[in-house]
Amino acid sequence: MSLVPPHHLRPYMTENTDWQIIFDGSRHLIQTPHWSFKVDFDEFNFISIKQNPFFRFFKVCKKKHLICDVTAGLGRDSYLLSQLGYSLISIERHPVLMTLFAEARARCDNNLFPDWHLLFGNCEDFLQSNIAPDTIYFDPMFENRKKAMTQKYTQVIRHYCQDSSDNATYEFLYAYCKDNKKRLIIKQPTTGASKTFSKPHQIITLSRMSNLWLYQF
Ligand SMILES: C[S@@+](CC[C@H](N)C(=O)[O-])C[C@H]1O[C@@H](n2cnc3c(N)ncnc32)[C@H](O)[C@@H]1O
Repeated sequence: MSLVPPHHLRPYMTENTDWQIIFDGSRHLIQTPHWSFKVDFDEFNFISIKQNPFFRFFKVCKKKHLICDVTAGLGRDSYLLSQLGYSLISIERHPVLMTLFAEARARCDNNLFPDWHLLFGNCEDFLQSNIAPDTIYFDPMFENRKKAMTQKYTQVIRHYCQDSSDNATYEFLYAYCKDNKKRLIIKQPTTGASKTFSKPHQIITLSRMSNLWLYQF
């Protein structure tokens, strides 16, 4: 156990909940009364990368394109994008999620993912200042319909991100991409998609549960 938690994690380590953030000597993990959770990209159970709809969709992007995953969460989608060989910037604003993500990223062989960088903070701030991606990937929180069946991965994200201001982020990203002629890709559920987001130029099926909405300006 870590005796001195990193400064930015301290408020979450003392919050009044059954959930704890612990350090096992090499990394942080989440401990609930019923299970523990760590991020380990090797444990993700992806189908073959070439059969994955992400591959079929993103392969049409030129590899030189810089993709920015503006809501990286615990990094699963980012990991997939980086496996496809894109230059990638992953942004996440929650300190707990970013810590788990960054520790998992640090365990990846850097030679395999030389062009994958992480930024901690609000995507709006980075896009307005020092980064200029070609494609923006936005994965807002979906409404939770089947609470009991939700994976640990999603439960952890939901636990820490209950007050997400996704509509404001959407408004910003839509205007940013339109003004700067960028491509915007938004993950949406197959049923119960946002009614406030503009109609996309194209919809691509990603899985039984989700689609990609594409805006090409
Ligand atoms: C649905 S989760 C994304 C899950 C992610 N695609 C994955 O594979 O783990 C949305 C995440 O976006 C983050 N987020 C929401 N708005 C943000 C913003 N404006 N800037 C940076 N991160 C943001 C939240 O903290 C949350 O972790």
